[in-house]
Amino acid sequence: MDKLVEMKGIVKFFGHVEALRGVDFSLKRGEIVALLGDNGAGKSTLIKVLSGVHRPDRGTMSVSGEDIDLDRYGVARARSLGIETVYQERSLGEKQPLWRNVFMGRHLTNRWGVIDVSREKRDTMDLLSSVLGLRGVGLDPDASVGTLSGGERQGLAIGRAMYFGAEIIVLDEPTTALSLGEVSKVLSFIRSIKEDGRSCVVVSHDLGHVAQVADRFVLMDRGRVESSYPRDEVTVDELMKAMLHLVNGEAS
Ligand SMILES: Nc1ncnc2c1ncn2[C@@H]1O[C@H](COP(=O)(O)OP(=O)(O)O)[C@@H](O)[C@H]1O
Ligand SMILES: [Mg+2]
Repeated sequence: MDKLVEMKGIVKFFGHVEALRGVDFSLKRGEIVALLGDNGAGKSTLIKVLSGVHRPDRGTMSVSGEDIDLDRYGVARARSLGIETVYQERSLGEKQPLWRNVFMGRHLTNRWGVIDVSREKRDTMDLLSSVLGLRGVGLDPDASVGTLSGGERQGLAIGRAMYFGAEIIVLDEPTTALSLGEVSKVLSFIRSIKEDGRSCVVVSHDLGHVAQVADRFVLMDRGRVESSYPRDEVTVDELMKAMLHLVNGEAS
């Protein structure tokens, strides 16, 4: 399978605002694509179309070669196709224990339909240690989410998506408001997605961060894809210039 996701001619209006003006976007298996662009470029809107939050006004989409009926597409269908989104302000309840957070909305139940707390705790331990390599919280599934650092929270959310079998993990601005050390943690979680043979779309306005992990850069501008650059064909400098050029073009 070459293209895991293929979106073509995606148009999305919010009232009179044309947030997406005919966007083509694709993603391959095992690929990490960085979606770049200034505020308002349409990055979040595009990934919300992908993850079933927004229904586009026009356009087509296929996942694993299967044409998607966008009129019947939504978050639940996207999930069933293995598309999971980690939003910036994911509803991670601060006071909740980690294991509850991991299984929120998707509890493991025993044969009587009762939540299997001990299995949920055990799997949370596995997730913390093996998938994420988290050591900071002392590997306690009963620790509260509030004890995690910003980077660890992103890691937990990414690990949760992987645990539930996501093939495509979509991250919206995962490094915003994090310290440098935390950023490097998040970047290594993103690398682990790829090492696991899964794919990732990461939205960011921070080129310096995503340049460390992306296989391809897709630059958006005012509702359009301006260009797509494979990492071996572009330098960070050139990308920065292309982004600045768009911003300056808008200002003049
Ligand atoms: N839910 C919404 N309702 C109305 N307008 C929206 C909504 N979401 C996004 N927009 C508008 O669509 C455009 C693109 O927004 P967005 O996709 O959030 O950009 P980005 O993520 O690149 O900053 C902006 O003009 C924004 O104001
Ligand atoms: Mg956004």
